[in-house]
Amino acid sequence: MLQKTSAATDMVARYPSLIDKRVIVTGGGSGIGEGLVEAFVAQGARVAFVDIAEDAAQALVDRLTPDARHAPIQRHCDLTNLDSLKAVFADLEAALGGVDILVNNAGNDDRHSIEDVTPAYWDERLNVNLRHQFFAAQAVIPAMKRAGGGAILNFGSISWHLGLNDLVLYQTCKAAIEGLTRSLARDLGRENIRVNTIVPGNVQTPRQEKWYTPEGEAEIVAAQCLDGRIQPSDVAALVLFLASDDAKMCTGHDYFIDAGWR
Ligand SMILES: NC(=O)c1ccc[n+]([C@@H]2O[C@H](COP(=O)([O-])OP(=O)(O)OC[C@H]3O[C@@H](n4cnc5c(N)ncnc54)[C@H](O)[C@@H]3O)[C@@H](O)[C@H]2O)c1
Repeated sequence: MLQKTSAATDMVARYPSLIDKRVIVTGGGSGIGEGLVEAFVAQGARVAFVDIAEDAAQALVDRLTPDARHAPIQRHCDLTNLDSLKAVFADLEAALGGVDILVNNAGNDDRHSIEDVTPAYWDERLNVNLRHQFFAAQAVIPAMKRAGGGAILNFGSISWHLGLNDLVLYQTCKAAIEGLTRSLARDLGRENIRVNTIVPGNVQTPRQEKWYTPEGEAEIVAAQCLDGRIQPSDVAALVLFLASDDAKMCTGHDYFIDAGWR
């Protein structure tokens, strides 16, 4: 019988090139980020993550540490505060002994209508969904250059490809992230730093459960080519591949994990 999601099997790929790699994940405390932290730790990587959700972050560290080759490290950091981002990233680089992989995962998809957007809300939305991706990359690039290369994965979204309602600022940011990826990939390619976008469809996380009724979820599944709900582990499977040396000739592109949602 065909497996509907990778969560249904414990046969996951192992990437020798990820063992001992130094990884920073933003927004790693919950949702997809939690799945990413878990997946990199399971590969034997040295993982650090930042979040504003301290209790969830510490609970994740406590859960993963007993079986980890390297216990994950978490730091509180509000990524909309660039001074804090800079200081925490410097601290994490020192704790990890360098940085090989950055996953720009943190974001926030609060809904809003056009008439309610003020200049202050515009700034706040762009800061939580776009600005930190650039400055996190800027913070780790020197360490990646010293290491002889690296991989940066920026989280986009299928939302703007579909043109969903009540998400104009979020979708503006997510569209810009694909441009950010292509620009960084061009500027950093000769340094052997690869940059790609992950474009998730609707992933079943606790936060998404807040937005969707069972009927709404059924509508999404009906619009997908594949049956079943996408899990954080399915997204992590793509991220691990693109972060690994197996993807050494992949850069500057957008990789969808959306079950064929159209
Ligand atoms: N879940 C989906 O269906 C879906 C679909 C498309 C794209 N995405 C993208 O995937 C990424 C992860 O989404 P998710 O569904 O796991 O979201 P989530 O809200 O469940 O988790 C995001 C994490 O980022 C953290 N965070 C938010 N603002 C922060 C800040 N200012 N500083 C530090 N940490 C902060 C949150 O505390 C949380 O732990 C996001 O970039 C999102 O836009 C998700």
